[in-house]
Amino acid sequence: MTESESIVNGAPAERVRASSQARGAAAGNGNPDISDAEFAQFQKLIYKIAGISLADTKKVLLVGRLGRRLKHHGLSSFAEYHRLVASGAEPDELQTMVDLLTTNETYFFREEAHFEFLAKTILPRHPAGTPFNAWSAASSTGEEIYTLAFVLAETLGLDAAWHVTGSDISTAVLAKAEQGLYWLDRTRGLPQSYLRRFCLKGVRSQEGGFMIAPEIKRHTRFMQVNLNRTLPALGKFHVIFLRNVMIYFDAETKRQVVARLIEHLHPGGYFIVGHSESLNGLTDTLHALKPTIYQLPA
Ligand SMILES: C[S@@+](CC[C@H](N)C(=O)[O-])C[C@H]1O[C@@H](n2cnc3c(N)ncnc32)[C@H](O)[C@@H]1O
Repeated sequence: MTESESIVNGAPAERVRASSQARGAAAGNGNPDISDAEFAQFQKLIYKIAGISLADTKKVLLVGRLGRRLKHHGLSSFAEYHRLVASGAEPDELQTMVDLLTTNETYFFREEAHFEFLAKTILPRHPAGTPFNAWSAASSTGEEIYTLAFVLAETLGLDAAWHVTGSDISTAVLAKAEQGLYWLDRTRGLPQSYLRRFCLKGVRSQEGGFMIAPEIKRHTRFMQVNLNRTLPALGKFHVIFLRNVMIYFDAETKRQVVARLIEHLHPGGYFIVGHSESLNGLTDTLHALKPTIYQLPA
C-alpha cells in the first residue's frame, strides 16, 4: 500500500555501491542495465517536474520501479523509455513515472504532537461559528487527511463547518486517498474510538479493511497539486500541513514551495512541517512557535 524505502535519499556510503548494484539488480530481474548517463537523464527530469532531488544511490530502486514500464512498452533500454516520457507525447506515462518515483510512506497520527497542537491550541483559538479549513499539501494515500478530519470532527463536531483539502503530485496515491479504504493492519496509532466512530468495517471483498465513513468524507476534497509549479486557486487555509516532502527538495526548491504555500495561509494561520524538517533560512514571513510549527502573523 505504501512504499517503505525512500527513492530520493540515501547515505553517502551507499553511493559507491550504487552503479554495480544497479547492474546486478538489472541482471537478476530481467531489467536492462542503466548507464550513469541514462540515470542522470531521469534525475534531471524528475527534478524539473517535481523538484525532487533523486540521490545517486537510488539507481537500483529506479531500475526496479521503472523496469516494468519498459517491459509494458516493449522497450529495451532506459534511454528509449526516457525519450518516451520526455517527449511530451505520452502525458499518462509521464504521470505513471512520477507516481513510481515518488515515496509515499505515511500513516495515521504520524508525528502525533502536531494533531495534539491542532486540538489543544489551534482549534480553541479559532473563532466559533467560522468555517475552519485545513490543507494536507503532500497527502500521499490520505492517512494525514483523515487524521486531520478525525481531530476536527472530534473537536468541532461532525455538523460544524470544516473542510480538509488533500493534494499530492501523484494521482495514484490521490485515488487511494479518495477511496478511503485501508487495511486493518494500517491502524497503528489510530485510536480504537476513532475507528469505531468514524470508520465502517469492510465486508465481502473489503473484509479485513475499514472504510472512512461518509460523514467524514463529505468534509474532504482531493486535488492533484504540484508544489513545484504555480498553485491553482485553492483558497486560504487556517492550517497547512507540509510534512515529509521537503526532505526530497533542494534549498532553492524548498524556498519557492514555502513562499507559494504562505500565500494560501489566512493571517494568523499555522504552517506545520515534518519532524526532520525546518523552515530555518527559508522564509522570514513566518514566526517559529516551536520546532516544526510556524505561524503567519495576524
Ligand atoms: C513521504 S509522503 C508524506 C505524506 C504525509 N505528508 C506524511 O507526512 O505522512 C511525500 C509525498 O509528497 C509527494 N510529493 C513529492 N513531490 C511533490 C510535489 N512536487 N508536489 C506535490 N506532492 C509531492 C509524494 O507524491 C508523496 O506522496
